[in-house]
Amino acid sequence: SHDTLAEARAAIARHTRLVADFPSPGVQFKDLTPVLAESGGFASIITALAHGCPEVDLVGGIDARGFLLGGAVARELGVGVLAVRKKGKLPPPVHTVTYDLEYGSAALEIPAEGLDLTGRRVLLVDDVLATGGTAVAAATLMREAGAHVVRVSVIMELTALAGRATITRGIGSDVEVHALVAD
Ligand code: PRP
Repeated sequence: SHDTLAEARAAIARHTRLVADFPSPGVQFKDLTPVLAESGGFASIITALAHGCPEVDLVGGIDARGFLLGGAVARELGVGVLAVRKKGKLPPPVHTVTYDLEYGSAALEIPAEGLDLTGRRVLLVDDVLATGGTAVAAATLMREAGAHVVRVSVIMELTALAGRATITRGIGSDVEVHALVAD
């Protein structure tokens, strides 16, 4: 509801830790760790992330902070949760998607056996949307496994990096991008 979103935003405004010159000079990092450590902050954020979600039958939580959020959002929605992991953590066989970072590249993986993702409607959950590369990679994994992402929910969207446009290009214009706050 409106109240939950207002509560979540108040907790974010109050408890986000601002870190100068991280991860590089001139950048001010917004550390959401203290927000999630507050009982009320965590609860309102989880409710707000789940609010208004189209029908889904799986939540994908993105390594690593998306795990904390994704599990709780899945419980809120009454569906299962899948950890979308950084490369090298899962037993084979896996689906792997490599994506570009500012410097170098990274890869995400999900299991390729043991669960049937065919036709599943997925909500991806993460803490921050920056360039959108991570979300697109996670959605590409889901597509390889036969599922499709209907919404990406994050606490904070860094609008200067235009992740929303990257998601529209990389996943499709029908995916909903849902952010509790924009920066
Ligand atoms: C951060 C954040 C998102 C991603 C967003 O994770 O938690 O997952 O970056 O960036 P993008 O939109 O530009 O792809 P990070 O790579 O720092 O990993 P971590 O959560 O494991 O620390």
